[in-house]
Amino acid sequence: MPPEKLRSARWFGSQDRDGFIHRSWMRGFPRDAFDGRPVIGICNTWSELTPCNAHFREIAERVKRGVYEAGGVPLEFPVMSLGETNLRPTAMLFRNLASMDVEESIRGNPIDGVVLLCGCDKTTPSLVMGAASCDVPAIVVSGGPMLNGRFRGETIGSGTAVWQLDEASRSGKISMADFMEAETCMSRSAGHCMTMGTASTMASMVEALGLGLPQNAAIPAADSRRATLAQMAGRRIVEMVHQDLRISRILTRNNFENAIRVNAAIGGSTNAVIHLLAIAGRVGVELHLDDFDRLGHDMPLLVNLQPSGTFLMEDFYYAGGVPAVVRELGNVIHRDAPTVNGKTTGENTADAPCWNREVIRPIENPLKQRAGIAVLRGNLAPDGAVIKPSAATARLLRHRGPAVVFESVEDLKARVDSVDADENSVMVLKGAGPKGYPGMPEVGNMPLPRRLLERGVTDLVRISDARMSGTAYGTVVLHVSPESAIGGPLALVRDGDEIELDVDARRLELHVAEDELARRRAAWKASAPAPNGGYQRLYIDHVMQADRGADFDFLVGCRGAAVPRESH
Ligand code: FES
Repeated sequence: MPPEKLRSARWFGSQDRDGFIHRSWMRGFPRDAFDGRPVIGICNTWSELTPCNAHFREIAERVKRGVYEAGGVPLEFPVMSLGETNLRPTAMLFRNLASMDVEESIRGNPIDGVVLLCGCDKTTPSLVMGAASCDVPAIVVSGGPMLNGRFRGETIGSGTAVWQLDEASRSGKISMADFMEAETCMSRSAGHCMTMGTASTMASMVEALGLGLPQNAAIPAADSRRATLAQMAGRRIVEMVHQDLRISRILTRNNFENAIRVNAAIGGSTNAVIHLLAIAGRVGVELHLDDFDRLGHDMPLLVNLQPSGTFLMEDFYYAGGVPAVVRELGNVIHRDAPTVNGKTTGENTADAPCWNREVIRPIENPLKQRAGIAVLRGNLAPDGAVIKPSAATARLLRHRGPAVVFESVEDLKARVDSVDADENSVMVLKGAGPKGYPGMPEVGNMPLPRRLLERGVTDLVRISDARMSGTAYGTVVLHVSPESAIGGPLALVRDGDEIELDVDARRLELHVAEDELARRRAAWKASAPAPNGGYQRLYIDHVMQADRGADFDFLVGCRGAAVPRESH
């Protein structure tokens, strides 16, 4: 990259009033600090309100070392941080907002390449979406998972243990004191959830998409090798700028196909469907909901991690991590797919060893066969719905039963323990889609009625237009599109209606006569009044349905990194 071609040269390269202003206010840099040196933005989602990303200042320092070593100038900048555990009404409401922050921060500043520091669930897709719409060289450094949780000699996993312990507590198997003691044992170190929840899934997607260095996903946050990876990423992004290796050259259709297949093999989160669709939309790659079924459903589950299996991310790293999985998958992976380190996916994984066959199974002896996400359709979900069979109860994957309907999340919380339900019931939740909530919260894994838990029932078919935490499990049908709040068929379901789920046939049917449905449709009224203004107004007006990645309609596409007009 000739120095005068750098974006940053349009700020720092001129010997005139404008150059004076841009350089002088940077204060403390020698006058020639920026001469021909790529400026690397370090996009930091550090926040004490996002505890999974609270160690990112140290990671940023390691990235800076690498950037300096390679002859670049690192400049750290903050963007909106989305913490899954604290942010209300749901972090997903703000994913698109954060992506706008990232996109405009990169484009409007003297940045030649960017390192994206990602961790807690939504911080990964929002940063990748923003960078993709700007199309500069970009590399992701994930913050890494927490160390394994330990409670009374047992391993417990983020999120997954919460759902299990809550069920045990509500059914009287453990006391409230036990429940509270576990709280202090689960989150033992810096890092994000260490199950194969959405954060670990998206960090693995980063690796499968070629956007991160090998082993980006699994190195624990507390492991010194995480700092080394950050430093190496700092070195590499400077080279990427010189090579003009922009994110659009990495995010090819083949890389998305690799990601879908890896997601199936690792037992990844259903949230990956929504986020990958949104990212693909930003770079103009044609990716559709049905691609997840066509490419992923027949894939075997190789990685034995909670919630689909037993182990946690720390074990996954010691066993070989994502490179070992990609190697195991052989030629179903596009091995010539490009990656940020300049090598292909095949070159990066050709010699990747596996050190523990219990954690990463050989392809001829998988944990489960045909375990990828299934896409369902039928008169209850004309535009699709998803289910993760690897986290479901096998006998419920084909089931017909009467609906027990909740009109909202609040209705569910108020009545779940008093409804008339049995083991054949199908729980239905409305009003939790992108526009209806708004923001599509992770409430699809509805708690089971206490009476059924006490009788030893561990799972029911549950259907909603919501999402589900990647740490959750059960026979849970999610992302029903169109959602109930815009009058999708889910809005018409009433208590006692027969619903049929048949995952093998990919069907989700509401067995109510068409003339009765027509009567209900004519009488249907949207229930929740739309907010008067503010960001929620923008969100409701422009968010697309789940089958389109729930991005804003006006954010689809790449707007490039052309240098905007001078500010003074
Ligand atoms: Fe941050 Fe799970 S709460 S990754």
